[in-house]
Amino acid sequence: MELREETAPASGKVPPLRRIIVGAETPPIHVARGAGQYQEQPEFYDEAAFADDLDPVWVDERMRTESLSIAYGGKVAVNKVDLEVNSGEVLALIGPSGCGKTTLLRSLNRLVELTPAAKRTGRIMLDDQSVDDFDVTHLRARVGMLFQQPNPFPMSIFDNVAYGLRERGSRRPSKKVLEPVVVDALERAGLWDEVSKNLNHPALALSGGQQQRLCIARSLAVSPEVLLLDEPCSALDPISTAIIEETIVGLRSEVAIVIVTHNLQQAERVADRVAFMYLGDMVEYGPAGQVFGAPQAERTKEYIGGGFG
Ligand SMILES: Nc1ncnc2c1ncn2[C@@H]1O[C@H](COP(=O)(O)OP(=O)(O)O)[C@@H](O)[C@H]1O
Ligand SMILES: [Mg+2]
Repeated sequence: MELREETAPASGKVPPLRRIIVGAETPPIHVARGAGQYQEQPEFYDEAAFADDLDPVWVDERMRTESLSIAYGGKVAVNKVDLEVNSGEVLALIGPSGCGKTTLLRSLNRLVELTPAAKRTGRIMLDDQSVDDFDVTHLRARVGMLFQQPNPFPMSIFDNVAYGLRERGSRRPSKKVLEPVVVDALERAGLWDEVSKNLNHPALALSGGQQQRLCIARSLAVSPEVLLLDEPCSALDPISTAIIEETIVGLRSEVAIVIVTHNLQQAERVADRVAFMYLGDMVEYGPAGQVFGAPQAERTKEYIGGGFG
């Protein structure tokens, strides 16, 4: 299969569009979206990535927080955090326990507001629109989330992946319409080869690692732009962890990924960009190579060096 990149000429302020051409006769496929939700989005080339000696990447800002603070009953858990979430990148949130990583992550798709004591100030934007302006179900389809413990629904593999697609329309789509999207999501989640023989198999009979990849497939099926992962491997064995890490790295060209991990080796393996949180503050934020190789802040040096955590 021939893979060829084509960059349309930029005119004025319009950013260049990148297409991947597969073979000579097949139509161009846009890399940033999943099946069924084809939609052209401009992408931006990140010059800073070059300057930082990273591999050249196509970066497209998806989410942004501006002076985001969250307090539980007056106790600050996240303190004035400015952050960008870009497609084409895996962003890892690292830091010791209790430093606000989960709170920050859960704020991005407004799960934090399910906690009555939580109070938020500052802004959270998705594609330049405040997350508060979205219908919350719609927001959570665009900004999907995975938790520490895999949480498949007690139904078949197929029905798990098709769940979000069936929920969102007023007319239930037929199995025939759903099938290609389900297969595509399972492939992208790295689970297809293991389950293709029987999609009617109950999801709860899968192994933990397979369940977590099924949850990734369930999120991918509704074409999210951002995927939030809160320590997705902490309940898994090393082999499943390695498969999930590989899946995460493979997905980053199509979905912006934010992963919370207290496993520094994992962050080094998967992250393009790293944010180090300490007691609610975002102490350091930069390319992974720099944060791990030459951290600027004393706190980061101590943490990376194993001083605390
Ligand atoms: N639902 C909650 N109610 C009250 N306090 C909370 C709640 N969730 C988290 N916190 C507090 O907020 C701080 C940050 O927690 P968390 O975001 O879970 O950190 P991390 O994910 O880095 O371990 C901690 O002090 C924690 O005790
Ligand atoms: Mg946490």
